[in-house]
Amino acid sequence: MPENTALPVHIGIIMDGNGRWATQRGLPRSRGHEQGAQTFRTICEYAADIGIKYLTFYAFSTENWSRPAEEINAVMDLFRDYLKEAEERQEENIQKGFRIRYIGDTSALPEDIRKLIRIAERESAQARKTTVNLAVNYGGRQEILHSVRSLARRVQSGEITPDEIRLEDIQAGLYTAGQPDPDLIIRPSGEYRLSNFLIWQAAYTEFWYSDILWPDFTPADLDRAIEDYGNRNRRFGGI
Ligand code: IPE
Ligand code: IPE
Ligand code: MG
Repeated sequence: MPENTALPVHIGIIMDGNGRWATQRGLPRSRGHEQGAQTFRTICEYAADIGIKYLTFYAFSTENWSRPAEEINAVMDLFRDYLKEAEERQEENIQKGFRIRYIGDTSALPEDIRKLIRIAERESAQARKTTVNLAVNYGGRQEILHSVRSLARRVQSGEITPDEIRLEDIQAGLYTAGQPDPDLIIRPSGEYRLSNFLIWQAAYTEFWYSDILWPDFTPADLDRAIEDYGNRNRRFGGI
């Protein structure tokens, strides 16, 4: 764990590069997703151990539905495995203080997965040490749309006027309501973009990019990202 560095409270991670990792090894892309799911477990545990309070992992975007059905099914199978495992390890996870949250539009997911999500969220709701947000069928623009629609309904019902809408009201309708904005967003795999991840919340987030493919990402890489973050000068528009 890096020393003498301000620890980010909330870290977002775009888990990218699974497909390339597999292709480089002559393996099917699904093998890359499997390996990526292992990395997710390792990094999640490690980040919680070093005291990160909020973690948001981008697992499946609203745009990822454009992939071949076979690949989508492989990814859904991995969610299922993870959720079943979380159910089996409920006691252990609660003891470790893991609160599991799903962010995104879960209504489009298979019913059995939705049920497992409801169980995982309900059972870990009292845990407070580390909140783990899994972004599944998540899109930042869709999240803002979701919030704006609920505000439009309040305006329509006469509860508020358009001029009374504040930034906090939009924020309160996001999936991450009540959580601090990410301090640091990590994107491995050599891409330099957000790909619709936390676009509202990332207004003042520090970015950290790396060529490492997600399945190869290690706790030492997380340490490096946190150390670099500690050397950034966050001004939030000030001087
Ligand atoms: C990220 O890895 C996982 C998902 C989007 C589900 P990719 O599958 O995008 O891997 P690359 O970018 O093709 O290597
Ligand atoms: C972003 O990766 C989504 C996830 C990691 C879940 P993509 O691979 O979908 O992003 P693009 O297509 O390279 O922008
Ligand atoms: Mg990708």
